[in-house]
Amino acid sequence: MAETIAILSQKGGTGKTTLTRSLAHGLGIAGLNVLTVDADPQGNLSEYYGIPADTFPTLGEVLTGTESALEAIHSGVIPANLGLAEAELILAGRMGRELTLRNALRDIAPNYDVILIDCPPTLGLLTVNALVAADRAVLSTEAEHFSRQGAEQAVEVIGLARENLNPDLELMGVLLNIADMRTRHARETLEGLKQQYGELVFETVIRRSIAYPESAQAGKSIFDFDRRRSIDYARLTEEVLARMGLEEELAKARTTTSSLDSRPDGRAHRDRTPRKRISPTEGKGRPATARSEWAWVEADGPSISPTPGDSGSLR
Ligand SMILES: Nc1ncnc2c1ncn2[C@@H]1O[C@H](COP(=O)(O)OP(=O)(O)O)[C@@H](O)[C@H]1O
Ligand SMILES: [Mg+2]
Repeated sequence: MAETIAILSQKGGTGKTTLTRSLAHGLGIAGLNVLTVDADPQGNLSEYYGIPADTFPTLGEVLTGTESALEAIHSGVIPANLGLAEAELILAGRMGRELTLRNALRDIAPNYDVILIDCPPTLGLLTVNALVAADRAVLSTEAEHFSRQGAEQAVEVIGLARENLNPDLELMGVLLNIADMRTRHARETLEGLKQQYGELVFETVIRRSIAYPESAQAGKSIFDFDRRRSIDYARLTEEVLARMGLEEELAKARTTTSSLDSRPDGRAHRDRTPRKRISPTEGKGRPATARSEWAWVEADGPSISPTPGDSGSLR
C-alpha cells in the first residue's frame, strides 16, 4: 500500500513542482515504485514530464467522477490541465468534496510504494483534497521572510486537516528550497525555520541553480539533466527515506549519493571544498568555510550573484 505524500506551500514559485519531480526520481532510483499526481491546474508537473496538455483523462475527470484514477495514469503520472480548475468548482458543490481524491486513489494505492501529490499554490479545496488523501505532508519554502510567514499558514492548514478530516496526517518535514545560502538572509531564514520547527526542518537545503529551470525546459529531471547538481535532491531523498523508515532503499540511495559526490578518480567534487576567492573580510567573523560550503563551483562560470545588500562578495 502506497505511502502518500502531499507537497505543498502557501504560494507559487517555492519549488514544489521541481521537488515533486526530483524526489519522485530519487525515490525511483532507490527502488520504489512511485506515482506522481499533478493537483495544480497550471499543469506544470505534467509539462515537466513532457505529457501533452490535451492528454485525456486527467485528474479533473477523476475528481468529477467520470473516469477512474487507473485510467488517468500516463507514464507514472496523473496529469492535470486547466480543466482541473473547472473540476474544482464542480467539486465545491458536492457532498464529501474533501474526500474525493482520497477515495479515487484508494484503488490504485496498492500498486505503488509512494504517491507524491504536487499541490497548487493556494490552500484551497485541491490542497485540502491532497492533505486528506495524504499520510504525510512536505512543506517547501523559499529562503525569504514572507515565505516563512506563509509556511506558518500552511502548517496551520495541515493542523486543521488533521483535526477535522485526516487524523493520521503527519508533517514529514519542512524544506528550504531555491536557496542562495551565500546570502545572510537565506542563512537567517534557515536558522529561523530551525528554531520554529526544530528537527522537522530537513538538513538538506536545495540550493538555487539555473540547472533547474533548464531541466524543466528540457523536460528532464535534475538527475538526468545535470548529474552533479542532483546532489541536493539525492541527499534529500536519503532524508525522506530515513523519515519513512525504509532502510533497504536508504542504503541504495546512499550509494547513489556517494557516486554523485565523488569524481571518477574517487576525489570529492569541488563544491564540498572551500572556495579560494573569499576575501578576509567575508562573512563578518564567520569562518570562510561556513558559507563557502554552500556554494556551487560552476564548471561553466559563476551564475549566481549574492543578493544586493548582503554582506561581502564572493567574487
Ligand atoms: N533549486 C532551484 N534553483 C533555481 N530555480 C529553481 C529551483 N527549483 C525550482 N526552480 C525554478 O523556480 C521556478 C518555480 O519552481 P516550481 O517548482 O515550479 O515551484 P512551484 O511549483 O512551487 O510553483 C521554476 O522556474 C523552477 O524551474
Ligand atoms: Mg507548481
